[in-house]
Parts: sequence; structure tokens; C-alpha cells
Amino acid sequence: MQKITIAIDGFSSTGKSTVAKQLAKHLGYIYVDSGAMYRAVTYYAMKYGFIDSTQFDVVGLVSKLHDVVIYFKLNETTNVADVYLNGENIEKAIRTLEVSNFVSQVAAIPEVRYQLVKQQQKMGAEKGVVMDGRDIGTVVFPQAELKIFMTASAETRATRRFDELTSRGDTVTYNDVLHNIQERDYIDSNREDSPLIKAADAIEIDNSHMSLDQQFQKIVKLAEVAIQENN
Ligand code: CDP
Ligand code: CDP
Repeated sequence: MQKITIAIDGFSSTGKSTVAKQLAKHLGYIYVDSGAMYRAVTYYAMKYGFIDSTQFDVVGLVSKLHDVVIYFKLNETTNVADVYLNGENIEKAIRTLEVSNFVSQVAAIPEVRYQLVKQQQKMGAEKGVVMDGRDIGTVVFPQAELKIFMTASAETRATRRFDELTSRGDTVTYNDVLHNIQERDYIDSNREDSPLIKAADAIEIDNSHMSLDQQFQKIVKLAEVAIQENN
């Protein structure tokens, strides 16, 4: 069976990473969370003082990009890969609202995108990959055999993310989460380099009223058809 490349793009908290992980497991493919890589660079920028509430030293950050080593390693407990930055497991640290509040600005820097896209293309060079993000079907793998574009209302997405953050113990308000989601939607969709747009050949799925299982079943069917068509 020839393996294919599956690109899952869309807005924040639409369930991309959840379904991408499930699908990769189901197909025996690798899963790559490209958003975690942008979050890792943001975490680095915050940790080393290139970014805080008063300043954003883009030139300084870009000059240090060669020091930012990001990789994924399987977590034996969860059976999912965690993201590491220069040897530090940052899986939990990158999911905070603080990182979310800066990540879209970091992801708009062309030099950052250039470095990360190169690494993503390497990770998926042999196909058999499910990658989720914002530009996977448009820029990283424009030849992907299956492209999904996920949407849902901002309120639904904010509720989902709020529940997720509070259930892991983070102190956040619903309004702050909604504001962050709307701001990221805007920056991600309007940046010059690789904006978040639906690829012409992507299948759009609005999952505002779908459960995790319903969206998984729908996407598995699409994947099975795409695999058949390419064999
Ligand atoms: O999980 P969530 O949808 O909130 O975000 P994410 O997938 O972790 O992505 C975080 C941010 O990284 C996005 O808001 C984008 O600014 C950026 N990103 C990107 O520009 N390109 C990608 N392929 C993936 C993420
Ligand atoms: O990767 P992305 O930011 O698109 O979303 P996610 O991290 O997979 O999902 C965000 C949250 O929404 C998770 O807690 C999911 O369980 C939840 N979700 C849901 O309850 N129902 C859906 N149809 C999709 C996601």
C-alpha cells in the first residue's frame, strides 16, 4: 500500500490535532504538530527575553534561530510524541495562554517560517504523515493527496479551549481565551507570509456541532478514499 500525505489546516481549537493524532494512529502514519514548533520558538523567545509585554526583539530572535533545536520524542506514558526544545520537554509549557498570546506574532516572521517549513518538509519526506497547522496544504505539502480545512464558530472554539486549559489547572477566563482565539485568527489569516487560507483543493469541515467521534469517522472515510485513489 502506497502511503499518502495528509494535511489538516484550519483555525485554532477546531480539533485539528486531536483528529490528526487519531488518524495517524489508525493508519500507522506519523503525526506532526507543526503548531508546537511555532510555540517552541515563542517559548524560546520568551525564556531568553526577546519578547515580553513591553518589547519584541525580532532581529535578536532571528539572529539566534540556529540555537533553537526542536524535536519530538515519544512519551511512553501517553504514547504520543512530546515536543522538546534544546533537550527540555516543553510539551506542557507551550500550551499556556501566555505563549498563545505571542505565538502568532512569532509565526509571522518569515525567517522563522523558512526554518520550520524546511524541517516539516523533511519530517514528511517519505509520506505516511498526518500534519496539522495553518499552511500545510498550501505551503508545506501543496501536493498532499488529502487536504482538510477545519472551521467552527469562535465561541465554540473558545469554550473548547477554555475547558481544556481549566481542566489542566490553568487559571484563565473565557473572555481572555476568546480574545486570544479571535486575535490569532486575524493575525494568522492576514500575515503576508503563508497566511491561513483554505487550499483550493481542500475539503472544508465545519465541526461546530460535531463530536470528536463524529469528526474522526468523517475524516477516516475521506482518508480511506484518498488512499484507495492513490493505490
Ligand atoms: O492549537 P492551536 O490551534 O491553538 O494552535 P497551534 O496549532 O498550536 O498553532 C499556534 C500558532 O502557530 C497559530 O496560531 C499560528 O500563528 C502558528 N502556526 C502557523 O503559523 N503555521 C502552522 N503551520 C502552525 C501553526
Ligand atoms: O488542534 P486544534 O487547536 O485545532 O484543536 P484541538 O487541540 O484538537 O482541540 C481543542 C479542544 O477542543 C480539545 O479539548 C478537543 O477535545 C475539543 N474538541 C471537541 O470537544 N470537539 C470537537 N469536535 C473538536 C475538538
